[in-house]
Amino acid sequence: MQNVSLFSLIGGASPRMVRIVVDGRRVEVPEYASVAAALLYADVTVFCHTPVGAAPRAPYCMMGVCFDCLVEIDGLPNQQACMVRVRDGMEIKPMAGARALA
Ligand code: FES
Repeated sequence: MQNVSLFSLIGGASPRMVRIVVDGRRVEVPEYASVAAALLYADVTVFCHTPVGAAPRAPYCMMGVCFDCLVEIDGLPNQQACMVRVRDGMEIKPMAGARALA
């Protein structure tokens, strides 16, 4: 299958890879990446849906400003994927709608 990711490694670099689980799917991503970059590398294009209109969202700014990259990381909802570094064993799920209050 052809890799359709918009992200690729520069100059044929072969970094150490870590294994994460994205919505039940196991993927390998570079260990230095943010969660947002790792998900884009793994061909994930929808990170969350807006609470009101359920419009799909994906990272826009990649620097913590737009909040279009919200995901659930290891059970914690509303994490900015662009501001968290990926680490081995992470479980990431897309956010759907508004966060429930505890
Ligand atoms: S991509 Fe804009 S806050 Fe994460």
